[in-house]
Amino acid sequence: MSRKPSRKLASQSVPSPRLELGATHPVFAAHRQRFFDAQLPPSLSSRAFTRFRGARYDADTLRWGLEAWQLRTLDEYRSYVAFAEFLENVNALGLGFDVLSTVVRTVRDEARHVELCRRLVNALGGTDTIPGEPTWVSSDRSQPRIVLALQLVMGTLCVGETLSVSLLNATRKAAVDPLARAVLTVLTQDESVHSQVGWALLPTLWGAASRLQQRGLEDDLRHILAYADQAVFAGGGREVKDGPRNPFGELFLSERQAVYAHALEHGVRKRFREAGVRLPRS
Ligand SMILES: [Fe+2]
Ligand SMILES: [Fe+2]
Repeated sequence: MSRKPSRKLASQSVPSPRLELGATHPVFAAHRQRFFDAQLPPSLSSRAFTRFRGARYDADTLRWGLEAWQLRTLDEYRSYVAFAEFLENVNALGLGFDVLSTVVRTVRDEARHVELCRRLVNALGGTDTIPGEPTWVSSDRSQPRIVLALQLVMGTLCVGETLSVSLLNATRKAAVDPLARAVLTVLTQDESVHSQVGWALLPTLWGAASRLQQRGLEDDLRHILAYADQAVFAGGGREVKDGPRNPFGELFLSERQAVYAHALEHGVRKRFREAGVRLPRS
């Protein structure tokens, strides 16, 4: 999602929240690099990021890119942690080996997204310390597994990933910088798979939930859709008249609104209705 970077100033007495992605041990650092480089095309290898030359952009352009990609890093890390927890629930529910394997893939993908963001942040002049904190999706572990699994399927996969695919694809088309565009291409392709996982799992899991659980999940969905609205439009955004587009993946406000509205109606709401899930009125 392309959002205008905005960050509140932290009080001097309170340490600023941050996400630390730096290496903690040379062995793990080496395996991390090999693991991700083995999955990525040459255009996104570690070496490709070190070849990035920021000097051809002005300071404001680089700063916008840095802050936007730092925010995206936090989002990707949140997905990574949520999918790792989901994997445990998929296993406990006894879903098929094909399901388990595809969910393993989603965890690996999200780790790769964090790594791609980390590399791009460093190329843009940042460090492995990402300011801010992921918006954690805290699940109530006292809930039955089926409810926990459906909360993630409906909220993160069906809503979050489906909206992300459309927004990322539009952002990818708008990105002029080749490195940012290559990263957005991988993200878009992977998030499309994650969205498919959600819609493919929904009917089976929904049918396994009790009526009472279904009503509770429909209530949750109302909040999730309100949160999605808020997340997409947080930080406002610029309009075309405010200047040239940033090369690192910027959607103007009206573009983001149009992509979001279309994806919400045709990619999300319509499919929930088809699955028999009662939705709040739009
Ligand atoms: Fe992702
Ligand atoms: Fe994803």
